[in-house]
Amino acid sequence: MKEEKSKIGIFDSGVGGLSVLKQFIKYLPFESYIYLGDTARVPYGNKSSETIKKYAKECTEFLLSKNVKLIVVACHTVSSVALEEVEKVSAVPVVGMIRPATKSALIASRNKRIGVIGTRATIASNAYQDYITQNSYNSELRVFAKPCPLFVPLVEEGFINHSATKLVANEYLSDFLEMNIDTLILGCTHYPLLTKVIKEILPDVELIDAGEQAAIFSLRLLAENKLLQEEKDNFLPSPNVEFYLTDMPMNFKEIAKTFLGFEVDKIEIVNLSGK
Ligand code: DGL
Repeated sequence: MKEEKSKIGIFDSGVGGLSVLKQFIKYLPFESYIYLGDTARVPYGNKSSETIKKYAKECTEFLLSKNVKLIVVACHTVSSVALEEVEKVSAVPVVGMIRPATKSALIASRNKRIGVIGTRATIASNAYQDYITQNSYNSELRVFAKPCPLFVPLVEEGFINHSATKLVANEYLSDFLEMNIDTLILGCTHYPLLTKVIKEILPDVELIDAGEQAAIFSLRLLAENKLLQEEKDNFLPSPNVEFYLTDMPMNFKEIAKTFLGFEVDKIEIVNLSGK
């Protein structure tokens, strides 16, 4: 029997990264996962880059201590502000959200007018905007970026298809109509859950789910490095995930079900700081 290859580590500032985990389970169902959510210190999206870098390093060290074969930075805020810090401490490959989402947006866009939405820290870092422009030779290319900070608490409140969310979405997104974008990167873990609401405002715009693109990217990366888990039989296994949080949010189980589509029963609480 072949030796089991080690697990994929995914970390996020909190519960949002579960939307990324969901895509990984869809595209890489035979893998085992370690999910770390820094729920004691969420949100990262309004914090300074120094703080985000420090937290990102601690999350990375935790996953490395679990002997993972790949680190997925599910948090767009960390991917924008602190990917280099994660790469510096990691001995295993690191996949962030920006590169796969950007490549996919550049392929999808026909009129080369691309929108990006994310947390304040993500948009202020210019990481998406810079990466998009650096990877296109088209001088016509235009990027329009907008922070949408209220989307995170609305999703965590379960207001997925709620009139309040529609109102906020209209306020944030209607300008994109005038900008005539044809592609929008959902640059935050929570935004794929709002696809329906966003589509109501921007019906003709292609939405890029960065988690999905990161899963496809990782599938190729693991295959190229011969690190993919063997498929054991023809049956899809039930998801194999160890969940670690830094604090237990009161409504974690409900949120997790909304994000993942299945119940999470075993969670271990860990302390990352002061190591
Ligand atoms: N996970 C964060 C992101 O994708 C959103 C929540 C937060 O602000 O920490 O940017």
